[in-house]
Amino acid sequence: MTAPLSPSGQGASPAKYAVIGNPVAHSRSPQIHALFARQTGIALEYGLLPAPLDGFTATVRDFFAQGGGGLNVTVPFKQEAWQLAQANLSDRARLAGAVNTLWQRDGVLHGCNTDGVGLVQDLRRLGADLQGARLLLLGAGGAARGVLQPLAQAGCARLHIVNRTADRARDLASDWLQASGATTPAVSAGGLDEAALGGPWDIVVNATSSSLTDAPPDLPAGLYAPGALAYDMMYGAQPTAFMRQATADGAAQCADGLGMLVGQAAESFHIWHGVRPDPEPVLHALRAALAAPAH
Ligand code: ATR
Repeated sequence: MTAPLSPSGQGASPAKYAVIGNPVAHSRSPQIHALFARQTGIALEYGLLPAPLDGFTATVRDFFAQGGGGLNVTVPFKQEAWQLAQANLSDRARLAGAVNTLWQRDGVLHGCNTDGVGLVQDLRRLGADLQGARLLLLGAGGAARGVLQPLAQAGCARLHIVNRTADRARDLASDWLQASGATTPAVSAGGLDEAALGGPWDIVVNATSSSLTDAPPDLPAGLYAPGALAYDMMYGAQPTAFMRQATADGAAQCADGLGMLVGQAAESFHIWHGVRPDPEPVLHALRAALAAPAH
């Protein structure tokens, strides 16, 4: 980047946006935001911004100093982004402990986490009725923490968090109770072997990284209520190991996290541009690209 950049839609050269990460080459965000831009008629450039592992802050500062409009943040920098935007975090970002969306206002850095909103929107798109639902959340790492608040505030009656390391699930539940002071939904926590406690579940969300190794989490059988939805936050060309396990255990509907990916991007787009794009056609385009044989 050399020339100063202008804010979205206000100057001759379109504002610049990017996803920052390490590695970042695999990111689908440029494709998603290019499709949103075309759909909404907003002129922008959205690129990949690789940062050295010890150079996140400098790369962010440089990007905004050059007039950049906004950044999405991916692995492994979401916690660092949270630290950097500490003075101006959205409520969602504060509890999430991670930031995936950065922007500047009056020269001051702001941060939000749109992952959980993207998940909740995608659950609704799939027809899940969150109101009064019994919801099981698998995992207690960054991905689970990032979606807990929007999930808990979506109207479900019960939310049970289970994790391979049970203490991490208990810590996450108690952090939530302390931060929110909320008594509904009833939030509980335990190990994976306690996943059936309080079930069967209407919605089961896999926020563990187990699908990365094509292995399902070690769960007891009988988790799914009639009509239940199993949702893996990971995605791929084929159903994930967790989705295959859920189908075998009686889940009526399974979905992967591609819709969540598009949903979180739509929410970032809304923060930056004030316009809410329609995720549906973009999701179809991505699904088609994912299904196409690699060249
Ligand atoms: P992320 O940011 O993706 O959440 P993380 O913070 O490393 O990454 O957390 C990974 C999560 O996946 C954790 O909940 C982890 O369980 P532990 O806390 O017990 O490590 C969970 N996980 C990873 N591999 C798993 C597997 N094979 N089965 C069950 N849970 C698994």
